[in-house]
Amino acid sequence: MELLPLWLCLGFHFLTVGWRYCSGMATAASQRGCKLVDGVADCQGQNLASVPSNLPPHLQTLILDANPLKTLGNHSLQLYPVLESLSLHSCHLEHIGWDTFLGQARLHSLALPDNYLSESYRETAAALHSLQALRRLDLSGNSLTEDMAALMLQNLSSLESVSLARNTIMRLDDSAFKGLGHLKELDLQRNYIFEIEGGAFEGLTKLRHLNLAYNNLPCIVDFSLTELQSLNVSYNALEWFLASVEEAAFELETLDLSHNQLLFFPLLPQSSKLHTLLLRDNNMGFYRDLYNASSPQEMVAQFLLVDGNVTNITTINLWEEFASSDLADLRFLDMSQNQFQYLPDGFLKKMPSLSHLNLNQNCLMTLHIREHEPPGALMELDLSQNQLSELHLTPGLTGCLRSLRSFNLSSNQLLHVPTGLFADANNITTVDMSHNQISLCPQPAGLDHVGPTSCVDFRNMASLRSLSLKGCALGALQDCSFQGTALTHLDLSGNWGILNGSIAPLQNIAPTLQVLSLRNVGLSSSFTELDFSGFRNLRDLDLSGNSLTHFPRFRGSLALQTLDLRRNSLRALPQRAVTAQLLTSLRTIYLSQNPYDCCAVEGWEALQHPHTITDLATITCNLSSKVIRLTDLPRGMPQDCKWERVDMSLLYLVLILPSCLTLLVACTVIFLTFKKPLLQVIKSRCHWPSIY
Ligand SMILES: *[C@@H]1O[C@H](CO)[C@@H](O)[C@H](O)[C@H]1NC(C)=O
Ligand SMILES: *[C@@H]1O[C@H](CO)[C@@H](O)[C@H](O)[C@H]1NC(C)=O
Ligand SMILES: *[C@@H]1O[C@H](CO)[C@@H](O)[C@H](O)[C@H]1NC(C)=O
Ligand SMILES: *[C@@H]1O[C@H](CO)[C@@H](O)[C@H](O)[C@H]1NC(C)=O
Ligand SMILES: *[C@@H]1O[C@H](CO)[C@@H](O)[C@H](O)[C@H]1NC(C)=O
Ligand SMILES: *[C@@H]1O[C@H](CO)[C@@H](O)[C@H](O)[C@H]1NC(C)=O
Ligand SMILES: *[C@@H]1O[C@H](CO)[C@@H](O)[C@H](O)[C@H]1NC(C)=O
Ligand SMILES: *[C@@H]1O[C@H](CO)[C@@H](O)[C@H](O)[C@H]1NC(C)=O
Ligand SMILES: *[C@@H]1O[C@H](CO)[C@@H](O)[C@H](O)[C@H]1NC(C)=O
Ligand SMILES: *[C@@H]1O[C@H](CO)[C@@H](O)[C@H](O)[C@H]1NC(C)=O
Repeated sequence: MELLPLWLCLGFHFLTVGWRYCSGMATAASQRGCKLVDGVADCQGQNLASVPSNLPPHLQTLILDANPLKTLGNHSLQLYPVLESLSLHSCHLEHIGWDTFLGQARLHSLALPDNYLSESYRETAAALHSLQALRRLDLSGNSLTEDMAALMLQNLSSLESVSLARNTIMRLDDSAFKGLGHLKELDLQRNYIFEIEGGAFEGLTKLRHLNLAYNNLPCIVDFSLTELQSLNVSYNALEWFLASVEEAAFELETLDLSHNQLLFFPLLPQSSKLHTLLLRDNNMGFYRDLYNASSPQEMVAQFLLVDGNVTNITTINLWEEFASSDLADLRFLDMSQNQFQYLPDGFLKKMPSLSHLNLNQNCLMTLHIREHEPPGALMELDLSQNQLSELHLTPGLTGCLRSLRSFNLSSNQLLHVPTGLFADANNITTVDMSHNQISLCPQPAGLDHVGPTSCVDFRNMASLRSLSLKGCALGALQDCSFQGTALTHLDLSGNWGILNGSIAPLQNIAPTLQVLSLRNVGLSSSFTELDFSGFRNLRDLDLSGNSLTHFPRFRGSLALQTLDLRRNSLRALPQRAVTAQLLTSLRTIYLSQNPYDCCAVEGWEALQHPHTITDLATITCNLSSKVIRLTDLPRGMPQDCKWERVDMSLLYLVLILPSCLTLLVACTVIFLTFKKPLLQVIKSRCHWPSIY
């Protein structure tokens, strides 16, 4: 009988909980989740199934991203008549009612990316047509075909920016964007477009930015969008780019043709404002020098331009690719990852404003530096990963690299650079000459006979801050190789033997150096420990891959933050005192792959504070020929080590003593037994008192 009230109580309790849970869901969905700030309602990811109805009616911006709405009903936006911006990213939208946007006279930005609008595109198109003030429309990621897209955009003449990225558009004909006279920006990237009909962009007189990246376009010929400022056709299958030969002035500023299959330098407009030209990762080369240009008229390509029943023939002289292009405003030119074997005479002269030139990963073998080639404005030149064995400098040339700041010559086959190359490079801060077989000036006394130009001279380059000479097979460094510079970054790694056991040759630049890499240079500290005390500003030091047996010394070098000592021959960690001093600045230390003695790593925990040892888990040490992880070392290990260290001798003593004693006793017995007469002889000679 007493149980009944309890059951009732429990039942009632469950009921109330259940009820509260249900109502809780309903209110959270419509109210609690949305953040309201200044006419903006942010209802992202609230698991809403419909547009909330209890938001302020004067809402201007409504964000409903990531809610499973599925349908946008006819009257769902009725309550918010002054909406200006609506975002419905990833809302599983399939249907948008005909009348949904009726009365949304102010809506100018509508984002519908990543939905399923291809499902009932006709109804959606009809709904969009009531948005006569719409300026920005995002329809990306909706599996739309060209016909669906055309229908949705029809008559939306107020549009200024449209994204149709990540859809399934395959070709564009002249009806695709009809009537979008105000369109400025069109994003068509990541579709399957393989064909664009002649008049597709006709009438888009205000179009400034067109993105066609990641499509399947095989060529662009007769490019005539004179008003366009930026064109992005990267990641297509372009073999040709040919601007219209008419003499119209183009507004083009940025052209991205990277990651295509172009064989020839693009045939650019004769008059344009081009300042950025990106041609990375194509198959381009210049070919005139490869043939005997005795009959240049044979080296032409003819393009048949077919438009309806009209066929025009354009003839292009392939050896004059760049000659007619307007490159006067070009500032940024990326020709990396191509097949350029040489640069024709006069090529760089056409670009007096060029400030960045990237020729990384080509097949250049020689480069001539002449007047205006490269142009005096050049600030960054990347010639890395070519086959350059020679740089030619026109004699008497001055000021050719006067603006240059960064010069990358890494991974070539240079043995030296022309004397005077850097003479006027007063602004140069960064030089990378890694992986060339160069030697530095001054050369050791014995080698002078090779000639004065066979070394590279970095002395007195006052502006130089960063120098990389990785893997250059440099000989032993002379004391003054970097004299007169204020280097902050120096990479000498992979030059085995460059320091001949001492870091003295770096003393010149010790006060300024911040980052120093001496990886794999064959340093050893068998006689004295390396002393970095003079390197007051050193932040980052890489000493890995050497044969150091002692921890380097850093007295006074309080800036050190990163230290790499991997792959050395260290057997012990530094004393507590050293550690404490080091830890004032040190943030990262690498210590693994050294043959530590477990009995000499006592106190490593001090270094670990606060988590300084980055590779702690992989550090091991040897304890009586066993290899133990540092972290697995038992707390009491030092005791064992003391026992090992101190008591080992005692143990030996204990082991040896009985044998010694036995031997002694045996000797005495033998002696006494057999040599008694001898004793007597001595006794008689010395007249000792007899005890017998
Ligand atoms: C919206 O209203 C139209 C009539 O104006 C109707 O044909 C359509 O089915 C409605 N759509 C929805 C999703 O309610
Ligand atoms: C688009 O506009 C034209 C003429 O202004 C009109 O004939 C056509 O019916 C309109 N199309 C739609 C879908 O509104
Ligand atoms: C061209 O589009 C691709 C893909 O979106 C992008 O990575 C690249 O940065 C664009 N190029 C320019 C010059 O903006
Ligand atoms: C170009 O001419 C030279 C001699 O003038 C000849 O040795 C060479 O084979 C020719 N090269 C080609 C590609 O015709
Ligand atoms: C063909 O050339 C004529 C005359 O130069 C020009 O008017 C016409 O637009 C061109 N047609 C095409 C398809 O390029
Ligand atoms: C091209 O075809 C149109 C009809 O499609 C015709 O009126 C015109 O005369 C044709 N032009 C030529 C040059 O054949
Ligand atoms: C060198 O750099 C400074 C500062 O960045 C700049 O003002 C100067 O014009 C540069 N000199 C040359 C020759 O470009
Ligand atoms: C020089 O080029 C190489 C290869 O392209 C690159 O790895 C390196 O970081 C560049 N050096 C500098 C200083 O930018
Ligand atoms: C390296 O140092 C040793 C002694 O410190 C010296 O005898 C030898 O000449 C040096 N080698 C070079 C190449 O400077
Ligand atoms: C420590 O152990 C490793 C692996 O067995 C061995 O190669 C190394 O020589 C040992 N070092 C010492 C100092 O015993």
